[in-house]
Amino acid sequence: MLVTRTVAELRAALAQARREDKSIGFVPTMGALHAGHFALVDAARRDCDLVVVSIFVNPTQFGPGEDFERYPRPLQRDLAGCEEHRVDVVFVPDAQEMYPQGFDTEVRVRGLSEILEGAHRPGHFTGVCTIVLKLLNCVRPHRAYFGQKDYQQLVVVRKMVRDLNLLVDIVAVPTVRDADGLALSSRNVYLSPEERARALAIPRGLRAAAQAWEAGERKPESLCRLVRGELDKAALVVDYVAAVHPNTLEQAPEGCRQCVVLVAARVGSTRLIDNLILSDEGVSDDA
Ligand code: PAJ
Repeated sequence: MLVTRTVAELRAALAQARREDKSIGFVPTMGALHAGHFALVDAARRDCDLVVVSIFVNPTQFGPGEDFERYPRPLQRDLAGCEEHRVDVVFVPDAQEMYPQGFDTEVRVRGLSEILEGAHRPGHFTGVCTIVLKLLNCVRPHRAYFGQKDYQQLVVVRKMVRDLNLLVDIVAVPTVRDADGLALSSRNVYLSPEERARALAIPRGLRAAAQAWEAGERKPESLCRLVRGELDKAALVVDYVAAVHPNTLEQAPEGCRQCVVLVAARVGSTRLIDNLILSDEGVSDDA
């Protein structure tokens, strides 16, 4: 496994593979890797000849007062995990490498970036899109892997790829959960045992909505009310609960045949997001 720290090193590491027409799979991450990230890596490993992972805590997608400084950065452990999952090339740039003096460009997906997560984290998706486009241009992968866990991110990135005619397949990977149902997240390490127990209201609420859906409930408002009920009982501070169309993220209409239930809530100072796809074909963690 090769660890590269500059764009030039990364490009040099990939040049041979490209000449040999090998397929390149790319998994962008912010590190503090867990089984959710490794599900993306394993999917890339299955599909592609060469697997590239980036680890970069991207400052431009954090708002003022968010957790950029305290975001976990266990680099040695991350590299060991990448090695174990047979990653070929890891890209670990520093902020100077990605945003050198005089950097001036932003990529903004209008509309989709401003609702839900975007409404609560202004500028977040512009930071995400800008870094993802830069990384895609550095790696030039055939396929890039994103988790359903960050559902809106997946939709926004897909929109950017379509709007800008990028030559890459965006592959969605189902959300990986702990045995108790909590979606794995690098931010779960912030939770005290008591907070973690309360955070389980999120998967519980989503499961309640799923059960209602399977019993025939098709009123988005009623589905959301069930989720909120669980969050309120556990005294979580709700940023939003919404049942939306899977592609447009617009409010799902009554009687819809599919929707995604999206949740963002705070447990103490930790903000968690999760979602579940409900459709006539069934309930899934699979976008
Ligand atoms: P990060 O939060 O590190 O997540 C990297 C990728 O792992 C994302 O595609 C995310 O959806 C996926 N992921 C996280 N938890 C998961 C889980 N429990 N199950 C499945 N996939 C999971 O998302 C980012 O970083 C950044 O915004 C990034 C795209 C790297 C741009 O900076």
